[in-house]
Amino acid sequence: MAVEAASLAAKCRHRFPIFDQRVYINSCSQGALSDAVRRAYDQYLADWDEYGAPWEYWVERGEAARAAFAGLVNADPDEVAVTTSLSAGVSALASGLRFARRSKVVLTDWEFPTIGQIWHAQEARGARVTHVAAADDGTIPIEHFERAIDDDTLLVSITYVCYRNGAMVDVPKVVELAHERGALVLLDSFQAIGSLPVDVRALGVDFLGAGVLKYLLGSAGLGFFYCRRDLVERVWPTQTGWFADENIFAMDHTDYSPAHTASRFQSGTPPVPAIYAGIAGIELMQEIGVAETREHVNALNAHFIAGLDELGAKLATPRAPEARGALICVKSTDAKALVAALDGEGIVTSDRDGNLRVSAHCYNSVEDVDAVLAALERHRHLLA
Ligand SMILES: Cc1ncc(COP(=O)(O)O)c(C=O)c1O
Repeated sequence: MAVEAASLAAKCRHRFPIFDQRVYINSCSQGALSDAVRRAYDQYLADWDEYGAPWEYWVERGEAARAAFAGLVNADPDEVAVTTSLSAGVSALASGLRFARRSKVVLTDWEFPTIGQIWHAQEARGARVTHVAAADDGTIPIEHFERAIDDDTLLVSITYVCYRNGAMVDVPKVVELAHERGALVLLDSFQAIGSLPVDVRALGVDFLGAGVLKYLLGSAGLGFFYCRRDLVERVWPTQTGWFADENIFAMDHTDYSPAHTASRFQSGTPPVPAIYAGIAGIELMQEIGVAETREHVNALNAHFIAGLDELGAKLATPRAPEARGALICVKSTDAKALVAALDGEGIVTSDRDGNLRVSAHCYNSVEDVDAVLAALERHRHLLA
């Protein structure tokens, strides 16, 4: 394994106290708590204690979070809404779309439930929802999108990295096809953001949703929604709130004047504690390096896959590094029992769809991967 890859964990692992107790290799569920994020929460309490109601400062913290996220994805702050979840941003978008001229929403079978649920909810407002299925080899070939996207398609809603099998969609190709046919593209980047570079301009997506609690090392309660600048004022969200107003301090209940920026996708009082934590998490990931993390985790996963092959385990994740995110899924006869068995040995993983999910991040070492492999060997009877 590359020397640089081995050294990344050595550089940052001491900032995550959980490693004193456990082998934590479950960032697809939740990032490990860092000293920086714990301090951010302490600071929130200290500010509350000292100043009582420092709302101007707290609103300013929201702006700092917006700028931090915008910097991370190469957007302008004006193109970013600070939300309470990925779902909140996507729902605000959905509420502002009209399905009269084009009525079709194309999504894949890899979407997180929230995405499917939000788009199916729009059927009551005239949307027609089509699902693009994966092929038997576990990928979604571009031809499947070619068959689904047509000149009635308003939006193509895709996920960068699938939470169930770790497979990655070829986003630029889907964007090219969708745009050729006059459709817009929404990218759910939750399982990618922080684990690999995400650049909205390079990808060409029109909208992007994200949360911070996985590879961005933040906590629950904070999400972001990106909308390309020239589209902002073409969407008129009807799911809204006073933090979506063009002037939140106007306190005017007599009209609806949504912000001229992506703030129009916001809603009510922002999640201030999670904002403190989110800024700390994003800054820490920037300091550690997202591109370096991608390289590090690819090296760890190559080692992991080689070990799985030796064990005769079956992968549910594509083998090619460019076709997968940080998450590796292993087929199991009883994934819940396998997760529990590993947990009993101090190794934290998770399961979905009958697969074991192992998701390394910047702080994981080759020793962590070897610990998982050794435990899997002991619990071989639970591998499919
Ligand atoms: C790919 C993906 N999308 C969306 C979500 C949920 O987002 P939220 O709860 O912030 O709406 C998750 C959470 O695990 C996810 O993995």
